[in-house]
Amino acid sequence: MQKEIFEQPVALANTLEMLGTAHSIQPGLFGAASEEVLRDVKQVLIIACGTSYHAGLVARYWLESIAGIPCSVEVASEYRYRDSVPDPQTLVVTISQSGETADTLAALQHAKSLGMARTLCICNVPESSLVRENTLRFITRAGPEIGVASTKAFTTQLAALYLLTLVLAKLRSRLSEQAEVAELHALRHLPVAVSKILELEPEIRDWSERFSMKQHALFLGRGRHYPIAMEGALKLKEISYIHAEAYPAGELKHGPLALVDRDMPVIAVAPNDALIEKLKSNLQEVRARGGELYVFADAGSEIPESEGVHILH
Ligand code: BG6
Repeated sequence: MQKEIFEQPVALANTLEMLGTAHSIQPGLFGAASEEVLRDVKQVLIIACGTSYHAGLVARYWLESIAGIPCSVEVASEYRYRDSVPDPQTLVVTISQSGETADTLAALQHAKSLGMARTLCICNVPESSLVRENTLRFITRAGPEIGVASTKAFTTQLAALYLLTLVLAKLRSRLSEQAEVAELHALRHLPVAVSKILELEPEIRDWSERFSMKQHALFLGRGRHYPIAMEGALKLKEISYIHAEAYPAGELKHGPLALVDRDMPVIAVAPNDALIEKLKSNLQEVRARGGELYVFADAGSEIPESEGVHILH
């Protein structure tokens, strides 16, 4: 798993390689029939399990704010068994590293049986069952992921979902030429940005040592970083056997704050975005209860380090 975490820059570079040096993004990235399938799509339904589901939750924020398209995200094992209201103009997006997860495959079959024929998968294994079952596909190029807990596949799924967002935004005339060039430039910079973050390993190792004796941890985020907090909590549970929960930071006061004390470390994802001031006031609530904060910030977040407040930029 450690090795695969450090393969993220290469996995991203390989996945984004298909953009080439183009200054514009083409729907064809998702298959020959993309433009026809995607043009008059009315909404997006994302179905997946585990970490792939978290990637879908992040994408919902992008799809609605950038492409202006309604999006819902469902856990495959729920969707396949519940009564839902189908719409043939929905784009059904399944996400899976392996392409063999039984619930995801069954949920896709279920969606198709309800008359939803516009299907697209994001998958890391070209010869998998899932890829065969979809009209459109995007193959992430993370390389074989051997670790049970998904890491580099998640990052490449996010890149693929961001490309899908840009394609849909373009087809819906919501992406100016200038914005398109800027977005592609930023995407090409991703592998370098991720490499910089991996240089923080010594500091992260220090943090982990402090966590190793804890029984519980709380992860907080707002907006598209709430699903990132969920993914952090999932990883801590699955790999360290430490109980962890994730909350949207604004929900803290509606219950979980009661559990915060010096034995409950709180990890926050705090980039300098439109919600940073709101998040800061949530973090103060944690400090007021004696909770120790571990904050992933960025240079502009302006959260000072102090007693009980640890920051990584
Ligand atoms: C779980 C793994 O068993 O399966 C997760 O622990 C993974 O890491 C999930 O995200 C779904 O797998 P896939 O292959 O469908 O993405």
